[in-house]
Amino acid sequence: MIKPIQLRQPGVIEFGVGRRETLRDHLSGVTRILAVVDPAVRPAIDDVAQIIESTGRVVEWITEVVPEPPIHEVERLRSRVRAFAPDCVIGIGGGSAIDLAKILSILSTTDEPVSGILGIDLVTTRTPRLIALPTTSGTGSEVTPIAVLTDTDAALKKGVVSRYLIPDVAIVDPALTVSSPAPVTASTGIDALTHCIEAFTNVHAHPAVDIYALEGIRLIAGHVARAVADGTDLTARSAMALGSLYGGLCLGPVNTAAVHALAYPLGGSFKVPHGVANSMLLPHVMRFNLPACALRYVRVAEAMGVIAPGIVLESDSRSKIEQAASAAVDRVVELSRECGIPRSLTEFGVRQADIDTMAKAAVLVTRLMNNNPRTMSAAQASEIYRQAL
Ligand SMILES: [Fe+2]
Repeated sequence: MIKPIQLRQPGVIEFGVGRRETLRDHLSGVTRILAVVDPAVRPAIDDVAQIIESTGRVVEWITEVVPEPPIHEVERLRSRVRAFAPDCVIGIGGGSAIDLAKILSILSTTDEPVSGILGIDLVTTRTPRLIALPTTSGTGSEVTPIAVLTDTDAALKKGVVSRYLIPDVAIVDPALTVSSPAPVTASTGIDALTHCIEAFTNVHAHPAVDIYALEGIRLIAGHVARAVADGTDLTARSAMALGSLYGGLCLGPVNTAAVHALAYPLGGSFKVPHGVANSMLLPHVMRFNLPACALRYVRVAEAMGVIAPGIVLESDSRSKIEQAASAAVDRVVELSRECGIPRSLTEFGVRQADIDTMAKAAVLVTRLMNNNPRTMSAAQASEIYRQAL
């Protein structure tokens, strides 16, 4: 029997080159728009800004977007957002711009401090319409119930998870990702791959989500290097945008696991970009997890195109299954190399002496660690960080 699951997604998902034009239709009935934009992705922003301005609505622009927005920065914006009183909030940019838009849409009608909504299901409502237009293919934030913020006092990234953070409308236009530079395309692309792999090998994995995860793995593995090599390749950009969207659709119902938990202290203390941290940790965590989910990694290897479908079966010997599963890990290492992603934590200033503290912090991210197919102790987390040094 198939176990029960609840799937929540945006009311509308627009996908395809040119679909940003549908934003006009989705603004019908709104009067005051709060637009949260990452100014670093300029050409894409200009394009969408023109669409918004052409509607003649009152618009307040928020451009103070920093990676994994610090909680005190979000609080600083609260009074401005409350005073503007938007009936629509639009996030345009990478995951940080969209996550900030999500949180501000909540804060626009509540006095609850951000610290009071960190965690799962602590947001009670959202009033403004929420629309997301990603300019990177990675976080999948346009369809997820998650926003990631930084607690600078604790030097840790923290998540707000709530159904109210799922945008009403996600507009995924691959043309908006063309201006994403190669290193961002690489790290966000491997982040999306990590979402799919961690969802597929998750203790909560489910057939209704596996279909997104496996197809996302196939699309991303087949196109990430091509999108990095030529950012104007719309075929590769479209495949990455869809793969990333599929990865995002895995995050609400199943979510990620140890790779993301281990990445949290790297982002919080060493400012390692989220996708880069995941890329460096992913193969080491996969090797650690392999004994617990070898057959699932065989399916990952099939989706990545490194072994032919159906040649390794559940009834095969353990060694044959594990050998085929290793092909998935090897392909992940190759892909990161092909995309030019940094391979060592040392490059970001991480030292041996930092490892045990990070490991203790990572195993406390139980929201994600509890999803991992193999239980990970602080000592084992330390060993994985050491392998990635
Ligand atoms: Fe991620």
